[in-house]
Amino acid sequence: MLPTAHTGVPMAFKDMREFLALLEKDGQLKQVDVPLDGRRETNELQALMHHVCSQDGPALMLNKVDAINTEGVPILFNPFGTRERTAMTIGFRDWRAAKLHHSEVLADPARWHAPKVIDKAGAPCKEVIIRGDEVSLDKQLPHVWFGKEGPAYITNAMTFSKDPETGGRNCGWYRFTQFLDATHPQGGSYKPERAKTDLAAFYWWNPPFSDIGRHTFKASQMGKRLEVAIAGVCDPALHLASATGVPYNVDETAFAGGLRGSPVEMVRCETVDLEVPAHAEWVLEGEVCSDEIETIGWHSNPVGYYDRVQALPIVRIKCLTRRRKPIWHATMEMVPPFDHNYMALLPVEGEVLSDLRKKIPEVHDVAVTPNMCYVVQLSVDGWRKPHPNFGKYVIHAVWGSAGRWGRTAKLVIVVGPDVDPYDLKQVEWAMMTRWQPAKDSIVQPDGIPMILDPSCEKSAQFGAFRSDQMGIDATIKIPERFTEYPEVSQADPAAVAAVAKKLAGIL
Ligand SMILES: Cc1cc2nc3c(=O)[nH]c(=O)nc-3n(C[C@H](O)[C@H](O)[C@H](O)COP(=O)(O)O)c2cc1C
Repeated sequence: MLPTAHTGVPMAFKDMREFLALLEKDGQLKQVDVPLDGRRETNELQALMHHVCSQDGPALMLNKVDAINTEGVPILFNPFGTRERTAMTIGFRDWRAAKLHHSEVLADPARWHAPKVIDKAGAPCKEVIIRGDEVSLDKQLPHVWFGKEGPAYITNAMTFSKDPETGGRNCGWYRFTQFLDATHPQGGSYKPERAKTDLAAFYWWNPPFSDIGRHTFKASQMGKRLEVAIAGVCDPALHLASATGVPYNVDETAFAGGLRGSPVEMVRCETVDLEVPAHAEWVLEGEVCSDEIETIGWHSNPVGYYDRVQALPIVRIKCLTRRRKPIWHATMEMVPPFDHNYMALLPVEGEVLSDLRKKIPEVHDVAVTPNMCYVVQLSVDGWRKPHPNFGKYVIHAVWGSAGRWGRTAKLVIVVGPDVDPYDLKQVEWAMMTRWQPAKDSIVQPDGIPMILDPSCEKSAQFGAFRSDQMGIDATIKIPERFTEYPEVSQADPAAVAAVAKKLAGIL
């Protein structure tokens, strides 16, 4: 059954294939048998990404991509490229309904389901097992290029790891660089072994910006290498959970169980003390060598720029398991819109909304634009606000919110209930008619940055280190400044519909 606008019933897909079957049945996934170039420098895939995403185009299964190790491997492209398809990953079509579901489940661990560990015999990700010296990623993994990127990236996988002290599990969606046929951004070259067993991981551990960063940092302080398992192309609800900043030491796989309404099936790894989703298309097991840092680039990032040089820790792979005929998902980050932009935004909105609503009932909605401007919509305005400086209180609450991203909000705008936070024309109107820059703004230096913001000072491991932050209170200033405010001159929607109907034959 296709999900309706808001069934309120989460949908449990066993794996990515079930989700894709739903998309195909719904006319939202097209098979493409036209040959396409996926090679370094000559590829057509950034252009294709822009073409389909800028018109809310369908998901594609590219059956003939000319790249490395892609012969006979279907390349999934743009599965999450619209708000509707992202909402569908957890059984909704309507974006706001999906976001509310996400934020409500996040706030209520009683609705979560611990994962279920199943026997290896029932796990499709174990159909092929390659260990030790047999591992050769240069022959065994697809390498697909986008735009002017130097290496081929893996962007379809979640990393599973355990806190080296407490054993608490983390699952996060982080990118990797492959080394075969990769250009070195400073004109150097890579050791041939890198292409065989190594990936460079976007694990920000110095300082530790993510939970895998914290695990990596702790392990390095303890003089150990951190065990990891990397699972690619799984049930999309699990991907959504892995992109959510749940509190540290709290298990994303249990949260995913809550999102989908039933436990995720996991299976023990072969060579590391970890479990992975049993229905993954492929899995890599290995360890993080934070004592081996590699220089990589160019890397196209989600704020729309190429990072030229980055220093990242190596993950050394010791075992590869997979389905007999796995699907590969290839995607890139660039000036929005791009495939997984909404997949990254829904959890950010959910994280902030879930936290704010627990303590501020007047918060009605949180919209985060593709360029990460945070707009908070209140359910009250004017004299109904609990305090004259309520807008500023809400701005501080966003910076102090739970989750990974609210604290990094460079620009927060607070609006009243009559302003649609997704309509930037309306947000601008509220600012220009309800906001005085000196009186109604907060500017603070030394905030926590959005790590990829190119306008910030950089840290040792490349990323942004410090950011100025600004909050704009665009609510109506009664009673702070006025005893009354002019009435808004806007047509009544029912009257608009009536006059449109009356003139339907002419207009
Ligand atoms: C497709 C995709 C790729 C991502 N890549 C990275 C990445 O390489 N590094 C990173 O720190 N966060 C990345 N993120 C964001 C994290 O997945 C997200 O913040 C998540 O909460 C991190 O998990 P953690 O809170 O357990 O650290 C990515 C998100 C998506 C949707």
